[in-house]
This record gives sequence, C-alpha cells and structure tokens, in this order.
Amino acid sequence: MKTVVPRTPFRLLLLWVISYALLMQVVTSCTQKKDTYSNWGVYKGDALSSSYSGLDQINKGNVDKLRVAWTFEPNDSIEGGRPINSESNPIIIENTLYTTSARGRLFAVDATTGAQKWSFDPFNGERGGGIKRGVAYWEDGADKRILFTGGDKLFAIDALSGKPVPTFGQEGQVNLNEGMRGDPDKISVIPTSPGIVFEDLFILGTEVSELYGAEPGHVRAYNVRTGQLVWTFHTIPLPGEVGYDTWPPNAWKYVGGANNWGGLSLDASRGMVFFATGSPTYDYYGADRKGMNLFGNSVVAVNARTGTYIWHFQTIHHDLWDYDLPAPPNLVTVVHEGKEIDAVAQTSKVGFLYVLDRETGKPLFPIEERPVPESDIPGEEAWPTQPFPLKPAPYTRQYLEEADIADYSPASRDSLLNVFRSLRYEGLFTPPSVRGTLQFPGSRGGSSWGGAAFDANTGLLYVRSNDSPEIMRLKKVEPEKSITNLSVYKQGESIYATYCVSCHGQDKNGDEQGNPSLVGIKSRMRETDILVKIKQGGGKMPNFSSVFTDKAKEDAILAFLFENENTGRPDRESSLLEEIQSNQGASRDHEPIDTLPRYLNLTAYGYFRDSEGRPGIKPPWGMLHAINLNTGEFAWSVPVGNNPELQTGDQETGEAGSAGPVVTAGGLVFIAGTRDNKFRAFDKDTGQKLWEYNLPGFANANPSAYQIGEKQYIVLSVGGNAQNTAGSVMAFSLPD
Ligand code: HEC
Repeated sequence: MKTVVPRTPFRLLLLWVISYALLMQVVTSCTQKKDTYSNWGVYKGDALSSSYSGLDQINKGNVDKLRVAWTFEPNDSIEGGRPINSESNPIIIENTLYTTSARGRLFAVDATTGAQKWSFDPFNGERGGGIKRGVAYWEDGADKRILFTGGDKLFAIDALSGKPVPTFGQEGQVNLNEGMRGDPDKISVIPTSPGIVFEDLFILGTEVSELYGAEPGHVRAYNVRTGQLVWTFHTIPLPGEVGYDTWPPNAWKYVGGANNWGGLSLDASRGMVFFATGSPTYDYYGADRKGMNLFGNSVVAVNARTGTYIWHFQTIHHDLWDYDLPAPPNLVTVVHEGKEIDAVAQTSKVGFLYVLDRETGKPLFPIEERPVPESDIPGEEAWPTQPFPLKPAPYTRQYLEEADIADYSPASRDSLLNVFRSLRYEGLFTPPSVRGTLQFPGSRGGSSWGGAAFDANTGLLYVRSNDSPEIMRLKKVEPEKSITNLSVYKQGESIYATYCVSCHGQDKNGDEQGNPSLVGIKSRMRETDILVKIKQGGGKMPNFSSVFTDKAKEDAILAFLFENENTGRPDRESSLLEEIQSNQGASRDHEPIDTLPRYLNLTAYGYFRDSEGRPGIKPPWGMLHAINLNTGEFAWSVPVGNNPELQTGDQETGEAGSAGPVVTAGGLVFIAGTRDNKFRAFDKDTGQKLWEYNLPGFANANPSAYQIGEKQYIVLSVGGNAQNTAGSVMAFSLPD
C-alpha cells in the first residue's frame, strides 16, 4: 500500500487521519491479500474475481521446466460421442479439487495425485451437458457443502461424501424455474457460471433465451442451509422499482434477458455484491422495448444481504448488438490521483474497460456520452448516444478501414472488399439493418467470460481481446404465416431454421468453431438422447426446453433431423409465429405479446470471412494486454495463439478465444483457450512468452493455482480428443 507523503505539519495531521481512515477501510474491506494466497477456494481465485495467485514456486526462472504432475480423466462420455470441452475453473479446498466435467457431472479429486474421491451426477444417468464454469464452496464447522447447478437445478452436495444434503430444498436440490416470471413447468433457466457465497447466502445469476419472449434475468439469493429463496433482484424492474421508467410500461411482462450469466464478485466487508448483465431480448430489435432498458448491459451493485439496489452503470443503452457484459467485474484497489481507491473494473465485448468507484459507481477516468448512428429499421429507436471511456484506451481495434481487410490473394481480397463496401458501417454502434451491417469488434469480440486477472501489487490488469467482425442482417418476419398447416417435416425444417441454423448451418454441416455437424445424426444418436440434448443443451448448445413444449414439435424436429422427407431449404421466417406462440405458452398471465412487426437477425453470429473461411481482417485476431489501472496506460500487448497457416512474417497471428488469464506472484501470466491447443505462460512484466505446452485437446477454461505441502500446481480443464472424448483435468508442477 502506498502512503501519502505529507508536506506541512497541519497537512500531516489531516493526511494522517485520511490515510488512517483509508487504511482501515482497506483493511476491513475485502482487499486482495497480497502474496498470501496458497489456495483457490473460489471461482476465479477469490470473491473479488482477481484470478491472482500469491504463489511463486513456479516462476520466470523455472517455468520452462513445468511438466504434467497428474491427469484426471472423468471418462463419462457417451459411447460414440464427440470430443467435448469443460469450461470449468476448478476450486481446491484443503487437499481436494472440485470441478465439473464437460457433461456436467461433479467430481472430487485428490489435488496431489488426481485420484477420484467421488462423483455426483446431477442428471441421474441422462446425457447431461450444458456449460458449467465451476462450483462454489460453503462451510460451517463440520458441515461442508459444494453448491453447483446442473441443468435448471441447484444442488447442495456434502463436500466429503459427495451425497446430496437432504435438508437443502427437496432432497438436496432446488428447482431454479420456480420464482421466475413464466410457468416453471414450461421454462428452463440454466446458469452457466457459478454463483457466489456470502455468509449463509448463495447468490446466483442465470442464462436465459436470447429470443423474443425470453425469461427475465433475475439475480437470486438462496439460503445455503435450507435452499429457500431469500431475495430476488429484478434486472428488468417491476413497477415502482428503480429503472422501471426506462422501458415501455408493460415491458416487464414480456421482455426478457438482461441476465447475469458471467458470474458475480463480492466485497464481503461492505456487504456488496457486483454483477454485470447481458442484453435485453430480442438481442437485435428493440421496437417493443423503447428506452434505455435498465439494467441491461450494466454493472450493478446490490446489498448482498437484501438484494437492494445500490448503484448501476449502464455500458450500452438499448442494446441492439448482443454486447452482453460477459464476466464479473474485477474488484480492484488502485492509486488514483494520489489516493488509494477501491474500484471495480468491468471488461466488455466492445473492448472498453470501465473503471468505476466501488461505492458509488462513478467513473474514475472520464466517460463521455457521444452521438451514435440512427437505426433505419421501422419502429426501432436506437439510443442517440453511448458511453465512451476516454481511459484506458480500448483493448481491441474498434474501427475498420479498407486497409484492414485481409489480403490472402487478389480474388479473396476483392470479394471481401465487395462485401465490406456493401454493408452499412459507421463504426462501433452501427445499428443492425436489412441491408446488412458490419459489427466490430463483434459479439464474440473484446473479451468473454474468461474475464481479467488483477495483480494488486502492481495495479496491472491482464485481459485477452478478440477482433472478430460479424455481419448482422435483419429480416422482417411475417406474423400471418402460420406453420401449423405444414407437413411434420416442414414444421421441423422451420423450427430448425429459427433455432438451430445459426450454429449447425443451412446444410446441418456445423462449423469449425465447435458446432458439430448433424448430418447422419440418425446413425449416431437415439431419438431420446437428441431430445434430451435439445431440451437441456450442453457445451455451447443452448437449451430449448421452452420451445419443445409438446410432442408435435419434438416429432417435427426429429423428422427433419432424421431426414424423413425430401430436403429443402429451411424457411426461417415461417417459424416466428411458432416461436412467439411458444413463448406465450410459458407466460403465466397470458399477457399478449404485442403485434408490432418483428425482425430476426438471420445471420446472427455470422463471421465476416472469405469463401475459404479465413478471417476477413488482417491479424492480430487475439491479444493479451497488461493495463495499469493506476494510470490507465497499457504496459504491454502481445498476440496470443497462432494460426501457422495464415502467419506471414515473425508476428504470430493471435487467435480469438474466450478463456481468461491467471497472474501469479511468480511473475507469470498463464492462459489457454486457443484453437492451437496450447497452454502458455507470459512474463507478467514484459509480455514475453516464456513457456508453451501442447495440450491433448482444446482447453476452453481458466486455470487455477494452488499449493499442497511444498508443491505448487497449475491446473486446467482440457477438452476431449478422439481417444478420450470426455476430456481431462491436467495439473502441472515442477519436477522434484
Ligand atoms: C448457439 C449454437 C447452437 C444452437 C443455436 C443449436 N446448437 Fe445444437 N449444438 C451446439 C453445440 C456447440 C453442440 C455440441 C455441444 C456439446 O459440446 O455437447 C451441439 C450439439 C447438438 C446435438 C448433439 C450432436 C452430437 O453429435 O453430439 C444435437 C442433436 C443438436 N445440437 C441439435 C440442435 C438442434 C435441433 C437445435 C435447434 C433446436 C440446435 N442444436 C441449436 C450448438 C448449437
């Protein structure tokens, strides 16, 4: 901690009082303990989401000697399954590591040897799946519990025996669909990131559909002992709540999203919990949600005991780009204008880092509201201004010019330039259009759920960035087109065109980004397993339980997937009515969804690429940055990941990725999550790459660091491969 140097006797006293007050505040508040961490008991290292380890046995001088200490293989794949990834960031309590496999099963593993202690299957033998980024731990004396979610259930599991705690909820589980807006039997809300423990509360966000009529993203707190719901924070405010007037009067009944899917951070001594939210639905068209739309795309601070609103900062007003805030804010302590200040630093997909005072939400560096382009879609009212932080500078490129368009060959460049010129593009915040809009940094741009790592000793924040341009093309949907008079196969085709085509492709061929091909699925998967997959999701596959509410729809999608009729081009539009009907079906008070024209982004998440699938812009496509939060200046930036086929010259290309870094007292930043399947360590002071290791699969996960006895370990969830489809957990240490 830096002390303020007094200049005159009078000031001495004053400053002593101030410094003492600050010191006490820092001591009593939940400040990152410097270099005392030997464990990783919380997702992202601590409740502040620091992703920092105070261990230094593995350091700059010896990292090149790191080797595999143990590998744990959950071996819980379905026979004939494809390789799958776990995004889990394991926690370590005493000598036990707790994590979830890609199929969503909970495992307790000896942290020294990798030997399994027990496992728990939240899906009771069913196929399972769904993104799980980790689990949480709570204890009171001998009562030790793991809190984690599987599908739409919250479980409390005895940390020693692996058995459900019978006094929690119903035999150890709580139905998360209860207490939302819709009928619990017809909806399915599925958290992806773990919740956070505060005293006897478990505070949890959720993932909901991104389509029209999705559930709202309530943040909820449950009693850790009983499973009882203690408080609910409405991210889409009800009448009388703060922010209600930023929507049309009835929007709270039909608009959804604004959900916290990226996890939460906690300042225990202040009793404040912090979370960041995603876009309201529908992501790309907001005529039925005119207004600023609080608390969409906001950093929100609430009272951790009561859920009462404290402050918010909205990063995008009336979002039209799916610019969700993707990770919990880092709770940091910085020296700002000579004073030590507790702050929060929020990463984003647009590449801005928002640094806000922890108690008030006021920006530490200036943030300017600037005019942004208007929408040309009937009914849409894009918000006229958006916030632009002046410091730190954005950590992605935010504007593209013709000079940035990739140049693999004259023909490739010509076709890319033709597309680029044909699109609507007026920089960041160009609204989606019927003609097609270029979106950059893109909905997969900036940084994702991996978030940032913070070193309180230096004030440096480490964050990865992606430059990932996308094309958004809206199409008006004809509400009068009903699908019910179509054949079963055609209905299935129409459902596929609405919900599945964006990932699995027009021809069901999938893509190289991990969306599998569904061609020939009939010979690989049973009908019942397909239905489970569709209703529960898994990996990056969302759950569609709110869509497949009756047997007719199940039959329809199966007929289409099994090709029980001649194929034809999916007709995406004709299914909107079906979609609206299905969402209405889940609505408890049958509030009619309004009759405004609706638009769908038919190319949602469509990359801007050339005909051979190469990125449409010149590299770097992925970077790692160190940003000094005391000054707002960048310490260094380096590419992370490489595509050797597209590399020209010495500079690595960098690759887009979601997983985040860990910074250690040993002077290292560890990061995985690139498609070249490498695990890397960089010098935290210079960005120099000191180590890389070829993993047996794609590690789409944040590492954890811990020490048992005399030995430090770095551990990472690694995705499956052809031999071991379920993937593994790999621990690294120095040789004896
Ligand atoms: C956001 C992208 C996305 C959407 C939308 C999507 N899927 Fe998937 N789907 C995936 C991914 C990713 C996987 C692999 C999941 C895993 O790792 O377990 C998958 C897996 C599957 C599988 C299992 C395939 C296998 O070989 O294991 C089936 C079947 C499937 N999806 C059907 C559908 C259907 C039907 C729809 C529409 C109702 C749909 N998906 C919508 C991304 C998506």
